[in-house]
Amino acid sequence: MKSESQAPGKIILSGEYAVVFGYPGIAVPSPQYLRVTFEKLTNREDILIDWPQISEDALWQTYAQRIISLCEQKSEKSTGILSIHSDIPLGKGMGSSTALVIAICRCLLGQECEIDARAIEDSVNPGNSGIDFAVIWKDKPLRFQKGIAPDPTQLRTDFLKCGSLIDTGKANESTPDLVAWVNERSKESQIEEALREIGECTNRLLAGEDPLAVFRDHHRCQVALGVVPSEVQTLIAGIEARGGAAKVLGAGGRTGGGGMVLALEPSE
Ligand code: PMV
Repeated sequence: MKSESQAPGKIILSGEYAVVFGYPGIAVPSPQYLRVTFEKLTNREDILIDWPQISEDALWQTYAQRIISLCEQKSEKSTGILSIHSDIPLGKGMGSSTALVIAICRCLLGQECEIDARAIEDSVNPGNSGIDFAVIWKDKPLRFQKGIAPDPTQLRTDFLKCGSLIDTGKANESTPDLVAWVNERSKESQIEEALREIGECTNRLLAGEDPLAVFRDHHRCQVALGVVPSEVQTLIAGIEARGGAAKVLGAGGRTGGGGMVLALEPSE
């Protein structure tokens, strides 16, 4: 017997880190999906993960294994082969780790597993705000704010048609570590101000302000938080000098790459 499920990635248009502290953010599902198939086999003793894309990467293997073990605590044990394929770039700020939680949970626990999947997300991605889970679970553009039911947003996203994604490589730090690092400094006035302004960027986008202007300010706040590596700052300065705007998607990084950057062309 085979079961199949999928989950999209996400693109945060505004709100990174600020959403952890209760400010609003906006996220849209990515056009790329992660797909999982589970073939139940009674002649096996465990679940074998078949994920050729990450054969070199022990961290993803361990991460997927942890999600499976947590699912097993919530349902009767099954055995078989779990095949995974992701079109979402892995570990680059586009929600691949949450998409993996949701797609595996849907496959092993059934499509109605939201509460269990959310608990598993909290245990494998500690400190998360819930924005990734909300947009990936619903597969719809959302205005997200902690403690309030996510609101499907009517925000016009045509500006994304002339946007492009630039891969700046993986950060050396994980998202939970970066969130903890920002949290430690969240009472410093420069950090407090950057978080508040990122929340304001969300309100400005929803009010219909030019995304180019909002993205430039949002990027400056991410730089102030310390999560945009210097080479990525140089890349974005070049895009701005040509009249465009760009921002890091997701947690970014302190060293190494900054994950995916969303670049917007000048409107004319
Ligand atoms: O999981 P990432 O790297 O796409 O980052 C999610 C956005 C953060 O605001 C940095 C963390 C969170 O849970 O909101």
